[in-house]
Amino acid sequence: MAHGILQYPFAEPTRLDVDPRYKDIRKQGVVRVQLPFGEPSWLITSAADAKIAYDFRKFSRTEGLTHAIPGLHNTENIKISSLLLNMDPPEHTRIRQLAAGAFSPDRIKALGAWAQGMVDELLDAFERQGAGADFIAMYAHKFPVLVLAGILGIPSDKAFEFKKWIDISSDASSTPEMKLDAREKTLTFIRALIAERREKSTDDLLSVLINARDEGDKFEEDELVSLAMALWHGGFKTTLWQLGTTVFTLMSHPELWRDIKQNPDNMNAALNELWRWIPSFKPGRAFGFWAKEDVTFSNGQVVKKGDHVLIEFAIVNRDNDIWPDADTIDFHRVKPAQHFSFTGGAHACVGQHLARLQIRLTIESLLRRFPNLELAIPAEDVQFDPDSFMRGILHLPLKW
Ligand code: HEM
Repeated sequence: MAHGILQYPFAEPTRLDVDPRYKDIRKQGVVRVQLPFGEPSWLITSAADAKIAYDFRKFSRTEGLTHAIPGLHNTENIKISSLLLNMDPPEHTRIRQLAAGAFSPDRIKALGAWAQGMVDELLDAFERQGAGADFIAMYAHKFPVLVLAGILGIPSDKAFEFKKWIDISSDASSTPEMKLDAREKTLTFIRALIAERREKSTDDLLSVLINARDEGDKFEEDELVSLAMALWHGGFKTTLWQLGTTVFTLMSHPELWRDIKQNPDNMNAALNELWRWIPSFKPGRAFGFWAKEDVTFSNGQVVKKGDHVLIEFAIVNRDNDIWPDADTIDFHRVKPAQHFSFTGGAHACVGQHLARLQIRLTIESLLRRFPNLELAIPAEDVQFDPDSFMRGILHLPLKW
């Protein structure tokens, strides 16, 4: 069992590295850590402990509204009770069910042909650019925006203006005033879209959400706006960064690219393994939970009622007890356990089927159109974004 309190995170990650110190920490079980802001926390790095902490009957988000949230930054501005991420069941379940219906595997599957059309157009432009074309600027920055705009019914000519506000509101370099202003603009825009849909219903997700509200009168206007915002915030940058790190990982491990080329039927398993292995969220960036009662973890440590736990799910994904030789990417694992990249429990990513679809269509299309795809610069020269909350690549020049 650990003694004392560790300053956390141990170090800023630079690229896709995973700090070797986690191996020892995992052996110790849950350990007490102090992040730069907020209360101390308990760090969770093993799958067994993550499963305990994702049990919403024992852990809460709402409790955090009255606490100093542990984090790398001051996060007072996200203490908004109508945000999905701050809710607990049953309020959370009510809103989640609405969103989950709209993002169900079947609904997302039905979007395949429409999304493929966008992939094709973007890759046409990418190809025209020729060797050295930047996958991040020409593709990863655009595809998730167009997908989300289409789903929410935002006109495509407004999509990038909308994206700009989202960028400002989530950019570490924006001042609080800029963030507030961008948030107000986003809210006004969404409210206007909702009003339009009320006049004339369409078949986009926003209409589905509005009708669900109007029919059952179950959803407050603010909840609806907040959900639309959550979908943008949750769905854009995450997918942008994951597209970049997925392509980078394949390009910087040519044997993996060859493997999926030779085994196209193994695509889902290969992508699942990449979801597991890529340590997407940087240390200290996950949203934690507060214990609703005293809870005993696997090392016998009791986390007291009211204490915070931080589940480093990117690190949990490297637990050798669950995925043998977990630091190695292996597309041919036998019946691998479900990874934690979309977290677990009540707050697990509601958009995960959409995220998976976007990554799969992208990789399949790249394989088909550019079988000899490779990095146009040495892997070590690829720059990572120091400010993003997930590991994010700034530019990814490719050739084929
Ligand atoms: C690479 C892509 C993505 C990654 C890695 C990702 C990851 C995550 C993670 C880790 C969470 C849990 C956060 C928490 O603990 O509160 C989450 C929640 C969420 N995600 Fe995603 N996500 C992705 C794409 C998307 C997309 C495409 C959408 C929707 C369009 C989306 C919408 C959401 C929402 C609304 C939540 C909050 C769920 C809740 O609190 O109940 N995400 N996502």
